[in-house]
Amino acid sequence: QFLEVEELSEECRELISSLPTEKCLLFGNLHQYRGFWHPTKILQTILTCQNQFEARDSDIYLVTLPKSGTTWLKAMAFALVNRTQYDPKSTQHPLLSYNPHQLVPFLEFPHNDVVSSTPRLFSTHLPFVSLPESVKKSGSKIVYLCRNPKDNFVSRFHWQNKLRRQELGSISLEEAFESFCRGVYIYGPIWDHALGYWKQSLENPERVLFLKYDEMKEDPGNHLRKLADFIGCPFSKEKESFNVVDQISELCSFDHLSNLEVNRTGKLPSGVINSNFFRRGEVGDWKNHLTPQMAQKLDEIIKQKLGASGLTF
Ligand code: A3P
Repeated sequence: QFLEVEELSEECRELISSLPTEKCLLFGNLHQYRGFWHPTKILQTILTCQNQFEARDSDIYLVTLPKSGTTWLKAMAFALVNRTQYDPKSTQHPLLSYNPHQLVPFLEFPHNDVVSSTPRLFSTHLPFVSLPESVKKSGSKIVYLCRNPKDNFVSRFHWQNKLRRQELGSISLEEAFESFCRGVYIYGPIWDHALGYWKQSLENPERVLFLKYDEMKEDPGNHLRKLADFIGCPFSKEKESFNVVDQISELCSFDHLSNLEVNRTGKLPSGVINSNFFRRGEVGDWKNHLTPQMAQKLDEIIKQKLGASGLTF
C-alpha cells in the first residue's frame, strides 16, 4: 500500500538483473541489494531517494526496521522537537488529530507532511549502507531504535497477515519464521541492519544514537531526556521540565495513542489503516507465539551473527 511507483527506471531494471532475487511472502519479489532484501518497488524508491535526496546538517533521521517502534519514536521525536510550538497538554496538539506517520515522513516514501518540523524530521527503514550519500556526509543526527528480534518477528508476522490480500490466505507462522531465520524479508536481516548502526554509534556517538525498544518501554522518561539531549533540544533541570517529560511520555504512550479516534478509525493517505500500527505494544509477546525450540533457534542465530560486536538484544 505504500508503493505507488508506476514504472521502474532503466537504472533499477539493470540493477535488478544483477541481484539475487527471492519470492516475498507479501509483495512479489525481493532483491538483495547491498546485503539487504527489498521488494522491487521499494528498490526503485530507494534509488530515487539516493539520487535525489539532499540532506541538511540540521536534519534528524529516525531509523528503524519495520515493527520496531517506528510509530512510537516518530511521536516522541515530533512532540520533543515541537514542544515550544505545541504544548504537549494542548487539546490542539497535532498528535491528537494525526497519526505519527503523517507528521514525520519516510525518506523512501516521501509525502507532504501535514505539519512541518524545524529542524526537519525524517524516518527511514534503510540500512546504513544504503542511506543517501548526502545523509552520510552531512552533520545530521541519526537515531536508531531496535527491538528484540523475537518480538520484532511476531509483530511483523501479524502485520504481514493484516496487509496481505485476503484471497491469498494467511501466511503461516512456520513459513514466516523460516524466512526470518534466513534474513529474507523486507529490509532484513535484522542482525546486519542493527549492526550497521551499532558500529556507527560506537564510531560517531555524537552523530548516531542507538536505542532499544525494550529499554524504552521500561523507562520512557529517561529515553526522552536522552533523545532530547542528543538531538539538541535538551530539557532543563528545572522541576517544570520533569512535568513536560511526563506529559510527552503520556501523550506518546501506547494506551493514549492507540485509543485516539484518529488511530482507531483513521487511514493514512496511502490507504494503510492507522489501527494496524497498534497491536499490543509489549515486551515479550513472543512467548505467546513461538515454541521454546523456535525461540532457542532464533537466539542461537542472533548470538552467532552478533558475535563479539558488543551488541546484545
Ligand atoms: P506489537 O505488534 O508487538 O504490538 P512500527 O511502529 O515500527 O510499525 O512498530 C509497531 C509495533 O510498535 C507494534 O508492536 C505496536 O503495537 C508497537 N507500538 C505502536 N505504538 C507504540 C507506542 N506508543 N508505544 C509502544 N509500542 C508501540
